[in-house]
Amino acid sequence: MAFKSKIKTIEWVDNVSRMIDQTILPKEFKLVDIKTCEEMYDAIKTMIVRGAPAIGIAGAHGVALAALEAKKSVQNRKDFDKIIREKGEYLKSSRPTAVNLMWAVDKQLELLSEDCPIDEITQKLIDNAVVMENEDIEINKRMGDFGAEIVPKGATILTHCNAGALATVGYGTALGVVRSAYAKDPTIKVFADETRPRQQGARLTTWELTEDGIDTTLITDGMCSYFMNKKMIDVVITGADRIAANGDAANKIGTYTVAISAKYHNVPFYIAAPLSTIDRSIKSGKEIKIEERNREEVTHINGDWICSEKVNVINPGFDVTPNELIAGIITEKGILRPPFEQSIKKAFEE
Ligand code: MRU
Repeated sequence: MAFKSKIKTIEWVDNVSRMIDQTILPKEFKLVDIKTCEEMYDAIKTMIVRGAPAIGIAGAHGVALAALEAKKSVQNRKDFDKIIREKGEYLKSSRPTAVNLMWAVDKQLELLSEDCPIDEITQKLIDNAVVMENEDIEINKRMGDFGAEIVPKGATILTHCNAGALATVGYGTALGVVRSAYAKDPTIKVFADETRPRQQGARLTTWELTEDGIDTTLITDGMCSYFMNKKMIDVVITGADRIAANGDAANKIGTYTVAISAKYHNVPFYIAAPLSTIDRSIKSGKEIKIEERNREEVTHINGDWICSEKVNVINPGFDVTPNELIAGIITEKGILRPPFEQSIKKAFEE
């Protein structure tokens, strides 16, 4: 099921949100229909849909689903708006780190300032969700075009987690750059970190890249320094879940280690992320809330214990890469360079 075909990771179809179930890939390719706001909360929390831009669109769809439900039970805009605001906050609480979720839900809630009947505002919330869905792909393609410039001919790109078509509506952020670079130069290669504990790199990145015919090598998370030392990695590109105003970037746990190793080995480390991933309300990465996930993700593989049952476990889902380790942030407005305080501010002013 190649991504060259037009399948979207998440799509609004006939008043439901249809999405690829990412918990069972690559073993099984299955589409699920999410019909209520509560089902959407669970889909985000259990990571049927995951990846910062994709959960943003899921949040926007969730608000539209809430509106379809609410219009059946309330008669006036005041009661309707109250329900939608509460459901919006509920959706935002499903995962804490990726700011795209808060950004997309808030964009939906802003529409409530429009004075119109319930049917009309419901339709506006649906239309807005669909616009955001389609814009996501366009933005990724723009990012891909800018980002392809920093990929040397015949380069090997290391990536961590899955910042691909599956983490967005389509095309991808970091893997969107890979796709655009590959379109110009099919000799490029990708090294994909497996990405413990949920193995988004192994399960999702290797699947979507090999489906598109891109030469991909799977490595375990501890191997990146070994390959950088052997000069087998030319550039690192990852996605991000939240970027502070100073350029500090939260991404899947393990990204920070890769960035430190890249600095040591003089390998440029880039983040590819849309402007909706930048949270200008926070000055630095210290203010980013890091999701703590359950211990079973670490203690079990495929339902089996892999360690002593008495062991302590800590399972942060993300880490923050300090801005001084980042060569550039690839966005839909171009590549932002250090000092990021200035380049980020300028990108929002343009
Ligand atoms: O826990 P996940 O799978 O949602 O984490 C995803 C990542 O960390 C991605 O790298 C990030 O969201 C960027 S996706 C374009």
